[in-house]
Amino acid sequence: MEKHNHKNSKIAVSMMCADFLNLEQNIREFEACGIEYLHIDIMDGSFVPNYTLGVDFCRVLKNATSIPLDLHLMISEPERKLEWFASAIGEGDCISIHYESTAHVQRALRKIRDMGASPIIALNPATPLAMLENILDDITAVLIMTVNPGYAGQTLIPSTIDKIRKLRSEYKTVIIQADGNVSFENAKIMRDVGVNIFVAGSSSVFVSNDIAGNIRKLRENIN
Ligand code: DX5
Ligand code: ZN
Repeated sequence: MEKHNHKNSKIAVSMMCADFLNLEQNIREFEACGIEYLHIDIMDGSFVPNYTLGVDFCRVLKNATSIPLDLHLMISEPERKLEWFASAIGEGDCISIHYESTAHVQRALRKIRDMGASPIIALNPATPLAMLENILDDITAVLIMTVNPGYAGQTLIPSTIDKIRKLRSEYKTVIIQADGNVSFENAKIMRDVGVNIFVAGSSSVFVSNDIAGNIRKLRENIN
């Protein structure tokens, strides 16, 4: 069995935490720093108690940069809405849907693949890992929520660390993404239990105005 290593650690910057008045400047800085993904939180006020970014915002970013997009759909019935995003994504982009809000999970994951994107299954902190058993062939990664989705700036739920450790020990090669309170310190802990992709928002990349410095510091902790 392949041993987990940290050489492939990646950063997905959480765009809901970006400086919207200086978005282009932010993007150029991410490019200069070699950021691997732009993580875009899509909320619908139903599955989660908030609204954030939408299809048009994804399209603007798609046209503005070649950094791959990582769409995190925190929405009810995503299988009925995936089509809306077709014009905003392409090869190399990812779309995550929540297990908790999807009635026909394999069908929705297949649709994402048919759209040319990489399907990711997202799990809320209280959702057990057991359901993964039936969909491993349909996904390219697992997104473990380390907070309940809906807001930036929340505190990590400690049991999610054990959950990631368990996931890594059961599935040595699966790609694990973690989202929520990825601070510099939490990132180190997450790396040690097996996380590969770190969604970085207000707790690290945007914790101060020194974005490049913050990214450098985060990289040191995940490599
Ligand atoms: C939580 C969002 C996250 C969040 C991450 O619902 O999905 O992307 O913005 O950033 P922080 O560091 O604020 O938790
Ligand atoms: Zn997210």
